[in-house]
Amino acid sequence: MRTLIHITDLHFGKITPGAADRLEEKIRLTRPDMCIVSGDLTMRSRPQEWHQARAFLNRLPVPYMVVPGNHDLPYFNLWERFRHPYRRFQTYIDEKLDPTYRDDVMAVMGINTARSWVPHYTWKEGSISAAQIQRATAFFKKAENSIIKIVFTHHPFLPPPQHPRTYLVRNARPALEAFEKSGVDLLLGGHLHLPYTGEISSFHQHIRRGMICIQGSTATSTRLRKKAPNGYSRIQLYMNRVAIITKQWTGTDYDDAGNAEYCRTETGWKRKL
Ligand SMILES: [Fe+2]
Ligand SMILES: [Fe+2]
Repeated sequence: MRTLIHITDLHFGKITPGAADRLEEKIRLTRPDMCIVSGDLTMRSRPQEWHQARAFLNRLPVPYMVVPGNHDLPYFNLWERFRHPYRRFQTYIDEKLDPTYRDDVMAVMGINTARSWVPHYTWKEGSISAAQIQRATAFFKKAENSIIKIVFTHHPFLPPPQHPRTYLVRNARPALEAFEKSGVDLLLGGHLHLPYTGEISSFHQHIRRGMICIQGSTATSTRLRKKAPNGYSRIQLYMNRVAIITKQWTGTDYDDAGNAEYCRTETGWKRKL
């Protein structure tokens, strides 16, 4: 069994009073095997925001893995945004943009989907490249079938149930086809600041394998969308079962706000609860 905590969109620079400190305590109390941070650590990629993000991660008493989000690229300095888009992330957080981890229960890969620009009306959307898809395929190939395979990205692969026209990560289709072949079990993401879980083929009907998608609200920032409160997910991984508890900020604490459970079947994961 493994316990994960998934947090996303912390946005240091616009923190809900009390939330970051309480989140750190909750992580300390839960002692997960891994804390997964799926991007947007800062608001405008300012040095003081990076210092706060770095200090938060330094205080975590557990292993963590991080990918950048679109807010983590230089915002005011366009020259730097295009020449060295990830330099600040790499300076303050991690040299690796696509981090990996493997043990005898889980194989985890973060994929950086934040881009300086995308051919789109807004640059905030993300993309996954053919090279990244190849690297993920090679990484998961080394893991046995019984190992739970997890991908985390900043940008989503599954739209919120009420908003099917939401922009997804560019190249979601070839990426999901490769993930299906690799036997990926779980996809974790953020960016939308909306918490929901779902099964990937509920939207991408050509995908036959049941893959679980978990999207998080902004864990700590005042940038709320559609009145979704701050929150995060606690995920328990068993051999044939994944249990997800969604936590929600009440103003003083993060309380349980819902749960979901998925079971492994011959065609991937199916929701039970
Ligand atoms: Fe965000
Ligand atoms: Fe974002």
